[in-house]
Amino acid sequence: MSKRVLLATEKAFAAPAVKGIEEIFSKAGYVLTKLENYKEKSDLLKAVETAEAVIIRSDIVDKEVMDVAKDMKIVVRAGAGYDNIDIAIAKEKNIVAMNTPGQNSNAVAELVIGMMIYLARGKFNGKSGTELRGKKLGIHAYGNVGRFVAMIAKGFGMEVYAYDPFVAKEKMEADGLKVFTEMKELYKNCEYISLHLPKTKDTVKSINYDVLSQMPEGATLINTARAEVVCEESIVKIMEERKDFRYATDITPSNDKEMQIYGDRYFATPKKMGAQTEEANINAGIAAANQIVNFFEKADISFKVN
Ligand code: 3PG
Repeated sequence: MSKRVLLATEKAFAAPAVKGIEEIFSKAGYVLTKLENYKEKSDLLKAVETAEAVIIRSDIVDKEVMDVAKDMKIVVRAGAGYDNIDIAIAKEKNIVAMNTPGQNSNAVAELVIGMMIYLARGKFNGKSGTELRGKKLGIHAYGNVGRFVAMIAKGFGMEVYAYDPFVAKEKMEADGLKVFTEMKELYKNCEYISLHLPKTKDTVKSINYDVLSQMPEGATLINTARAEVVCEESIVKIMEERKDFRYATDITPSNDKEMQIYGDRYFATPKKMGAQTEEANINAGIAAANQIVNFFEKADISFKVN
């Protein structure tokens, strides 16, 4: 029986990625339905009703969605962070949840570098800015994105440091990084900090005033991870206190309007842009489609996260 797959992307993939996904499912003899650029959750609720497999991006797959998705066997988050899937409920309902780690990492890393330059040059306001060369960059959490950021930043002549209690020190050192085993040391020593933490109960609001106030003169925080890991009140407090502090984020904070008063020291993308490249869409979308076919045809559960 041909499987029914739903591609549900509130933020659509680039056309070549969709074409690649279509080709994979057509070759497998599966039926693909597309729900792209949808605006209402009710659209998703309706579309998942008959789907046996679903590909999503940051789309929320919670209990309400899984309750109506009676045939759903697998949901693949085409991307890295899967905090948008209630994985406990998925497990309870025997739905396999997967991600596609690493597939969009370079895109996010390039955005990190772009945002560092943008703020270092005062958002191209015509006044003299500063350069990245010779500056210290601290990578907070050394996963796939952190690794790409480190690699590119070294090409810019930055001194790259890392802190990640879940990654072996030797692994980071082998990549040519200087490693701090204390988080505070990373913040104390680096003018630039790039966040790559997942959103968990331990990381929410963990980047707070105590942490940020350690940063040296000319501090810049770049957040391409999740909005929730940064404490918004703390950012406001530090931006108020320190005229040298800059913040760029790829996830619009709830206090974005209030933050606009910081002018050239603050930047938020209008919509999460980290993974929004054709290449990343192709990599993650095709990986997700192949993972679904391999799951049904070969019972392959590589990349299962629950
Ligand atoms: C990820 O976790 O892979 C990134 O945050 C990208 O999210 P997106 O697919 O919604 O752009």
